[in-house]
Amino acid sequence: MTTASPLPLLIVFGAGGHGRVVVDAALASACFRTVVASDRDPSLWGQQLLPGVPIVSPAALHALPKPLALHVAIGNNLVRQKETQALRNIAPLVSVIHPRASVAQSSCIAPGCLLAAHCVVGPLANLEEGVIVNHGAVVDHDCRIGAWSHIAPLAALGGAVRVGSASLVGAGSVVLRDLTIGAGVTLGAGGVALTDVPAGQSWAGVPARPLERASA
Ligand SMILES: CC(C)(COP(=O)(O)OP(=O)(O)OC[C@H]1O[C@@H](n2cnc3c(N)ncnc32)[C@H](O)[C@@H]1OP(=O)(O)O)[C@@H](O)C(=O)NCCC(=O)NCCS
Repeated sequence: MTTASPLPLLIVFGAGGHGRVVVDAALASACFRTVVASDRDPSLWGQQLLPGVPIVSPAALHALPKPLALHVAIGNNLVRQKETQALRNIAPLVSVIHPRASVAQSSCIAPGCLLAAHCVVGPLANLEEGVIVNHGAVVDHDCRIGAWSHIAPLAALGGAVRVGSASLVGAGSVVLRDLTIGAGVTLGAGGVALTDVPAGQSWAGVPARPLERASA
């Protein structure tokens, strides 16, 4: 008779508002035996991120009882990437998926992603490492989302949209099907992309245009 291995203790690194969203989803998922938060900011240590979820110093993480799992919960895309590289020796990086996220069986979710409540990830969608699909966002069929990108609350990507790495698709924005959003792009909240957005640019508005012309 084999003994089932215990569920991992989840370290949520990043004790801000996004950390609270991740902890809430992790607790609801029942995939972890307990959840502990951590942060670089010493003023937070000893407090709780949510009731029953203590914030401990990064130095204390190695002493936590194994098995461990790690999720870096930092909203800033580049900081999330940097902290993940710095911390990945502590524990295996895991995705956190809220039980009320709708995730197609044929989708592919790399480690380190957050799928928040009421988001939708459609069939054959592919999410690379560290992607955030926030509350109520839709990543439709065949989309490919590059590592460290953030699809903000209520954003909607039509089918087969490609998003490069470390981009922010802002809250409530829309990207029409088959378009490409380059790497390092910001699409402002409420923007509607009707064309491809080149890498490194900030666009906003309806229809979305480069930001210096967004309000023109
Ligand atoms: C697009 C965005 C990045 C611009 O931020 P910023 O560089 O600080 O720009 P500013 O606030 O200085 O605004 C610059 C101009 O763009 C306009 N603008 C800013 N955001 C806009 C938006 N979302 N849609 C249309 N116009 C916008 C401003 O009105 C301003 O116009 P003006 O020069 O005529 O006054 C930001 O407003 C935004 O939408 N971020 C996304 C936030 C989000 O969804 N976060 C997810 C949280 S979970």
